[in-house]
Amino acid sequence: MSNKKLIEGLNHAMNREVSTFLRYLLQAAGIKGAQWDAVRKMYQSEVVDEVGHAQYLADKIVMLGGTPKLNPDLTPPPGEVRAMLEHDIAEEEADVEGYRKLADLADAAGLIDLKMKMEEQAADEAGHAEEMKRMLG
Ligand SMILES: [Fe+2]
Ligand SMILES: [Fe+2]
Repeated sequence: MSNKKLIEGLNHAMNREVSTFLRYLLQAAGIKGAQWDAVRKMYQSEVVDEVGHAQYLADKIVMLGGTPKLNPDLTPPPGEVRAMLEHDIAEEEADVEGYRKLADLADAAGLIDLKMKMEEQAADEAGHAEEMKRMLG
């Protein structure tokens, strides 16, 4: 069975992760004001989580016989903190759905380790969305 569709899906997810950690890096750097310090720290710590997700995906693409191809979305992030959080909650929730679909594809390919990891990354993104919702109040 060909892994082409699975590799394409993993590459798409990798690019979403790279786009996300670049956006969070810029947002963490740009946030000023003591009232938003918790949000700034949250974005700083999530950069590391998203890099880890991207790294896992890039490694797995290679082990499935593919080549990771970078095509990140470099759209400048919103300048206002509440707009950042609203945008990122929607993106994190889209990532949960994306990982759910990849878990199904991995399961169909008989790749139990990948299925479980995709579910774990879905849970990480759901946690990120929840943390952001709490910060939004
Ligand atoms: Fe992620
Ligand atoms: Fe996330």
